[in-house]
Amino acid sequence: MSLLSGFHQKTKTEKVRLIAELYTQAPAETLTTLSSFWHADADQQSVIDGFSENTLSNFIMPYGIAPNFLIDGREYAVPMVIEESSVVAAASSAAKFWHSRGGFKTQILGTSKLGQLHFSWSGQSEKLRALLPKLEQYLRHEAQHLTANMEKRGGGIQTIELIDFTAQEPDYYQLRVSFETCDSMGANFINSVLEEFGRSLEQFLAAQESLSSSEKKVEIIMAILSNYTPDCLVRASVNCHLKELNDACINLDGQGFAEKFCKAVRIAELDPYRASTHNKGIYNGVDAVILATGNDFRAVEACGHTHAARDGQYRSLSHAEIRGEEFHFWLDLPLALGAVGGLTGLHPLAAMSLEILKKPSARELMSIVASTGLAQNFAAVRSLVTTGIQKGHMKMHLMNILIHLQADERSKAQALVYFSDRVVSFSAVREFLERLKAESLA
Ligand code: MEV
Repeated sequence: MSLLSGFHQKTKTEKVRLIAELYTQAPAETLTTLSSFWHADADQQSVIDGFSENTLSNFIMPYGIAPNFLIDGREYAVPMVIEESSVVAAASSAAKFWHSRGGFKTQILGTSKLGQLHFSWSGQSEKLRALLPKLEQYLRHEAQHLTANMEKRGGGIQTIELIDFTAQEPDYYQLRVSFETCDSMGANFINSVLEEFGRSLEQFLAAQESLSSSEKKVEIIMAILSNYTPDCLVRASVNCHLKELNDACINLDGQGFAEKFCKAVRIAELDPYRASTHNKGIYNGVDAVILATGNDFRAVEACGHTHAARDGQYRSLSHAEIRGEEFHFWLDLPLALGAVGGLTGLHPLAAMSLEILKKPSARELMSIVASTGLAQNFAAVRSLVTTGIQKGHMKMHLMNILIHLQADERSKAQALVYFSDRVVSFSAVREFLERLKAESLA
């Protein structure tokens, strides 16, 4: 097939038609399906189209709410965008469970974000190191037009560090720069400052009398923020007396449940295969809030997984312990978030999520997101060490199958009773519905 040239210049309808004709078997149906998801309000649709390129339609995801979150003494109903059944239900149930046990407590351990200017320089590293104080002054001065506003809001450039990688890669250095970006995620701010640093570094070195002509030259390789922000960190925790866990499970008392729970978490601390699934459970909650608030879930995931492997082995992000008579469960999560700017204000539902969350600062949003992650993790591990995960999942699975098979309300209710102690499968549900139909006709 030949290349589709000038595709991006076509109108949306032309793009839809072309793709439908070239790639689908029933172009008319494709057109109907894609256009059925267009926003009824053309202005709203053009806002959404503006987020990306070559848009054909909108991909709908469920937007749900997990109520009853008590976080640092404040009540929240947490908006979650997620396609996986049971996640919102599990977060809601964990939020309710901890609500009567003091709720979630959080601590912001840092808010620094990072960026890197990567460059090649072939001089002696001591010379560069000696020039660093003067260079730092110059870089800060030259970037002032970009940093002035952020400084007024209490942020800006924090530290500038020279890192010498020449032992691993010839001539390779980087400036690792830390930033405070207040309530914004700050990606554009950081990247603009770093690119300015690149230009300033070239000028600075070119003007140094003490350097030889080859040392006056530098090759800027790239300037970009780092998504690994270990010092933009929040701790979310829950704790209660062991007796308060007596009703966490029917077969175990509070002590027994806590011991089994802590063992399950220790397994995720020591075994990367389990850690991956364990942390995925945390991100079920985290990503859902990140999406609902218009933040960047890829950035948040990349950061969290890097953090989980920071000592060379991938481990659980959460930890649990019995201290005396108390059960403690906590999560340290690096989260670089924005509560203003980017999609947070542009996407109508992201803006609504932030309103539902009482217009949080970026710090408060870190606390809410980490608490949701911890709630999700608690719910998953609690199910795993007690009833098993399939019990809850299967109920949702059953409902999805019933909806797919267009069962009426009466049949749905009968199916729920019938399958309460039976294995759910697509064919078993279909046979059950067929039996019901045959019986009603008889
Ligand atoms: C499923 O989406 C998430 C879980 O697998 C998490 C876990 O195993 O802890 C249930």
